[in-house]
Amino acid sequence: MTLAFCGPQISTPNASTIRKQVDSAVGAIFTTFPNPEYLSADQRRSIIMRYTAVLEGNFIYWMTGSYLAVKSDAAREIILENLHEEVRDCHPEMLRRFAIAAHAVPTDLDAMAVYKELRKVRLFIGRLTGIPIVVMMAFFEEFIQRFMAFLAELAASEGSLEREYTDVHGVCDLVHTEGLFRAIEAEMAINPARSSINLLEGVDLLSELIHRIVDGPALAQFGSMQAASLPLCD
Ligand SMILES: [Fe+2]
Repeated sequence: MTLAFCGPQISTPNASTIRKQVDSAVGAIFTTFPNPEYLSADQRRSIIMRYTAVLEGNFIYWMTGSYLAVKSDAAREIILENLHEEVRDCHPEMLRRFAIAAHAVPTDLDAMAVYKELRKVRLFIGRLTGIPIVVMMAFFEEFIQRFMAFLAELAASEGSLEREYTDVHGVCDLVHTEGLFRAIEAEMAINPARSSINLLEGVDLLSELIHRIVDGPALAQFGSMQAASLPLCD
């Protein structure tokens, strides 16, 4: 089943219509999430493992790609500030501590479970098309600030008291989201995307990756491993 965002495409794109599409895509993601209360301990840990396998080593690559892809000074400044915070506060180490405390350190199986969808996102970033990448990152920042409560609940159920990663990203990513939407506006003013470009391509690809993180490995790849039908949130 394709779970990517399939809303109407933007006919006359501007920062406001893009934001509506992104808000809608983020909302759509959460309607499919399982209720943590119905997950087993293995399922809870596996979600944290796959999330860590993706974010720990890729977020800075995604954000660096955004920086390289944009042309406006305003967009560069906003993205650079985000990158600076990510490196200065060592967010990858913060995430690793979170995973260790939840007994959810990722393995090679977790890396393989997300490989296909993660590969598509990486290659998309590598094309360095300015606005669609920043749209994807704005989508991600908006998603993650809401996702943190879900992630923290999974970890708490595993007896973890480590909260720095989820606390920090539940708050600072609100500011990052607003900043990235300003970056989109600034970039559109001097470097508008060609009409043939799908501004939501990265949103679709990242949505598929997030679903893989939460749902688990595709049955075709991993036989009967987990991910069967999980009860959904109300
Ligand atoms: Fe971060």
